[in-house]
Amino acid sequence: MPLPLRLGVNIDHVATVRNARGGAVPDPVRAALLAIEAGADGITAHLREDRRHVRDDDMARIKAAISKPLNFEMAATEQMLDIALKIKPHAVCLVPEKRTERTTEGGLDVVGQLAYLRPFADEFGRANVRVSLFIEPALEAIDAAKEIGAPVVELHTGAWCDAIAHGETDRAKQEFERLRAAAAHAAACGIECHAGHGLDFETARTISALPQIVELNIGHFLVGEAIFVGLDNAIRTMRQAMNEGRAQAV
Ligand code: PXP
Repeated sequence: MPLPLRLGVNIDHVATVRNARGGAVPDPVRAALLAIEAGADGITAHLREDRRHVRDDDMARIKAAISKPLNFEMAATEQMLDIALKIKPHAVCLVPEKRTERTTEGGLDVVGQLAYLRPFADEFGRANVRVSLFIEPALEAIDAAKEIGAPVVELHTGAWCDAIAHGETDRAKQEFERLRAAAAHAAACGIECHAGHGLDFETARTISALPQIVELNIGHFLVGEAIFVGLDNAIRTMRQAMNEGRAQAV
């Protein structure tokens, strides 16, 4: 039997819509509660340096309101470390961050930043906050995560999803093989494996068949789909797609 597969719903873009008018609605906390009602196993949110979507008070309110784990995505900076240690989420996911990017482009350079990242993993380890590193599906990044002592990696699925979206079949196949090899390598290293970025119903169904992946974090597509069918419905359909994919796992 493959391991159960969790769905973390990223509510950042509910806050993006709220911020477009500078008011209080739509409230990302309401979205988080609704997502859990609809079957999310956890809530993910990325407190960016420029606070372009969720803000500090959103993080605190979400943590206080939800009964399921909060996954706090953040850049590895001293300021974010302080904030995260105060909020004490269930988990943090360290991501690379550039002010000019539209979304998280590429994974962390764990190999090149081993010495810089290690104290963050140590600090969160001492605080009993599980650390995940958002990485490209590359074996050397997983080896470096192991060296740092990170218990979890999240594989960046963006390149694979982009290749599919652009109809680049060969590249999509190559990218999927990288994900498959990385997930197997993480498990062999004793590291829990998550995945996310750019996933929709189809890609979530496909990747759910990789048995070592135990959590998917999905946001933009679900919030977009919610415009047409409602958030509850979008999340239930996503859960169904993941279950169907998981049933194919060997
Ligand atoms: N996982 C990580 C680490 C991310 O940075 C993001 C985007 O914030 C996601 C998952 C979700 O990606 P998407 O919004 O494209 O579903």
